[in-house]
Amino acid sequence: MSVAEIFETMDYGPAPESAAPALAWLSQHQSRFGHFIGGAWTAPTATFPTNNPATGTELAQLSQGSAEDIAAAVAAARTALPAWRALGGAGRARYLYALARQVQKHARLFAVLETLDNGKPIRETRDIDIPLVARHFYHHAGWATLLESEFPGYEGVGVCGQIIPWNFPLLMLAWKIAPALATGSTVVLKPAEFTSLTALLFAEICQEVGLPDGVVNIVTGDGTTGAALVAHPEIDKLAFTGSTEVGRLIRKATAGSGKKLTLELGGKSPFLVFEDADLDAAVEGVVDAIWFNQGQVCCAGSRLLVQESIEARFIEKLKRRMETLRVGDPMDKVADIGAIVAPVQLARISELVQAGVEEGATLYQTTQACPTNGCFYPPTLLTGVAPASVVAQQEIFGPVLVAMSFRTPAEAVALANNTPYGLAASLWSESLNQCLELAPKLKAGTIWINGTNLFDAAAGFGGYRESGFGREGGREGLWEYLVESTPVVVPSSQASASATKEAPTLDQTAKLYIGGKQARPDSGYSRRVLGPDGTSIGLVGEGSRKDLRNAVEAARAASAGWGTTSGHNRAQILYYLAENLNYRSTEFAARIAQQTGLDGTAEVDAALQSLFVWAAWADKNDGAVHRTVQKSVVLAMPEPLGVLGIACPSAQPLLGLINTVAPAIALGNAVIAVPSEAHPLSATDFYQVLETSDVPSGVVNIVTGERDALLKTLAEHDDVDGVWYFGENPALVEAASVGNLKRTWCPKPGTLPRPDAFLRAATQVKNIWLPYTDELPW
Ligand code: NAI
Repeated sequence: MSVAEIFETMDYGPAPESAAPALAWLSQHQSRFGHFIGGAWTAPTATFPTNNPATGTELAQLSQGSAEDIAAAVAAARTALPAWRALGGAGRARYLYALARQVQKHARLFAVLETLDNGKPIRETRDIDIPLVARHFYHHAGWATLLESEFPGYEGVGVCGQIIPWNFPLLMLAWKIAPALATGSTVVLKPAEFTSLTALLFAEICQEVGLPDGVVNIVTGDGTTGAALVAHPEIDKLAFTGSTEVGRLIRKATAGSGKKLTLELGGKSPFLVFEDADLDAAVEGVVDAIWFNQGQVCCAGSRLLVQESIEARFIEKLKRRMETLRVGDPMDKVADIGAIVAPVQLARISELVQAGVEEGATLYQTTQACPTNGCFYPPTLLTGVAPASVVAQQEIFGPVLVAMSFRTPAEAVALANNTPYGLAASLWSESLNQCLELAPKLKAGTIWINGTNLFDAAAGFGGYRESGFGREGGREGLWEYLVESTPVVVPSSQASASATKEAPTLDQTAKLYIGGKQARPDSGYSRRVLGPDGTSIGLVGEGSRKDLRNAVEAARAASAGWGTTSGHNRAQILYYLAENLNYRSTEFAARIAQQTGLDGTAEVDAALQSLFVWAAWADKNDGAVHRTVQKSVVLAMPEPLGVLGIACPSAQPLLGLINTVAPAIALGNAVIAVPSEAHPLSATDFYQVLETSDVPSGVVNIVTGERDALLKTLAEHDDVDGVWYFGENPALVEAASVGNLKRTWCPKPGTLPRPDAFLRAATQVKNIWLPYTDELPW
């Protein structure tokens, strides 16, 4: 091309990166790989090809991991665990530091290999993926050093099974492996079948730094290998990133197993542009939101919501910008958009776009050439999309943006939240006031204000609702790899559950407590409560599905107001509860004695103390400000889950109720509590304390009856956000929770978690990014 032509077209020439180092590395291994287990390579068996999606050519043969391979890897991780733990945080930090250094030293090889295997542009692997991987290991080297001082009373969870997707292969590996190693846990990781090569190169790096054998094990294969890892009984924790569908399967498969679980699933994240936004900046934001990594990003800003007054102008600008995007060879440094990971994904994208057009959306694709061989899909914009249409609701996971408009901020929030997902949201407005007012209203784990797709090891990342639960990164993420070293054991219940169903004798029966009122059970049935000697001491209502529905409705109505009232106000009400309980302490102590045969005075004192502790916490669970590599203030704000179902512990009739309900409401949740099945009378006596303490109607609802049956119903209920189960049958609750993938918390039976564990269980962290610049001209 002549200089004159370049001036005329303002076009760049190709600037290809060399594939040579990656191809040389592949041939060193004869392009055939086994698994990395116990520090050694197995011979390749049952191999399948992994291809370059940009050309369709085969890069290597990988081994399909069997259940035996998984068992061998888990055994190696288990064997390595004691010595790795005993090494201490400072010792482990040295290995994490060495891994970070090695990633940096081999950065080019990693970047090229990732681009060949995944199809993402070399510019992205080189400038984003690999630097973030190194950053993650450095950051967690720091956490390893600080572990004993910052997390006293906690230790690493043990052997971790980790399953990752293909969209950020090495980065997802780093997100999983770095925190595990920092806490003294060991790992069996299964990379995605399309993109395992950088994980195998990472295994080699583990050997280079002399990481003890078995601390990191990599087993390749498809979903069946992943399922074998999920099913293995010797796994203490599972961490999964991938589709919501598989996330559901994993939740179901692990129910009741005692395995700790984090799920990072799909999304349909909104990108909101207000009329006062810097429109040119917002257009660049859209480019990063949906065309970064070909749109194969779980938190991609795939739903554009533009204020009606600027819609036409904004769409016009966006189309103009789309024309300048280059789709092509991902190894070319000037490519903006590379290849889709595999033909099956390409087909899925085409089908969904077709479905959108059939539903009436208007398709816009650029006139720029898009390669026809290899897996390429052009940047795409769908306008005229109805909020309920398939393309507005389903994750497309490709370079496809759907656009809708809104009139008012309230409508914007309603549209933004009109999805079962809740991973991220991007807000564009020059009014910081408006952004900070709207950010808490958006149901998503990460909010970027005038920014998008910003990630850092110091800031937690994870979803609300069907985008999964748990956080990765920073202090928030570390908790997911820790367990209490010595849990507090509570005295066990004296009497076993002893209740019989009775024909209606409602007049003497303690009722249910729903929406601030005492309510007769819908069934008309009651259950007899027995004292320690087996004699009858009273009757309580037999709660049913219908009563729970009413209770959930009351809790939902109360939750918005209660969740946003100040911590100070909530504290006042908890103090008031304590005061009113104190007036009646003798009566409550006698009731405990009547039910359990034990002196109730100490239990009432402990309940009063518990109310004081949670009143204290109500205005102190502050969250944090994270410091990231990018110039950004990241506000990590704990928010209440919303509506919580709680099965109180069986022992300690009063304390079991207060110890669980008080933290939940102190942190802003509305609850439906199912009190001790054997000893429910302290809870039913407590109605009057609630009624006299200004607790808003619906914030605390109490339904007596058969605990497990009631909790199963709550776990299945789509409008319940989380369930705490202090009982012996967690499988029941965990299996029932898959519908809306609600968070479940099932502490070990007979133990009382520490207050900090309650704080985390009662809230979810929203990270709000506020990018800034210090490069102003003055
Ligand atoms: P996927 O969820 O099937 O795969 C993710 C990982 O899970 C892979 O390592 C896979 O081998 C493994 N896996 C599959 N079935 C499993 C099972 N039954 N038990 C244990 N592990 C299993 O995702 P897939 O099929 O690759 O992509 C399908 C859709 O999922 C995409 O179009 C996209 O919408 C979504 N997705 C979301 C991701 C995210 O980051 N949230 C990442 C990848 C895909």
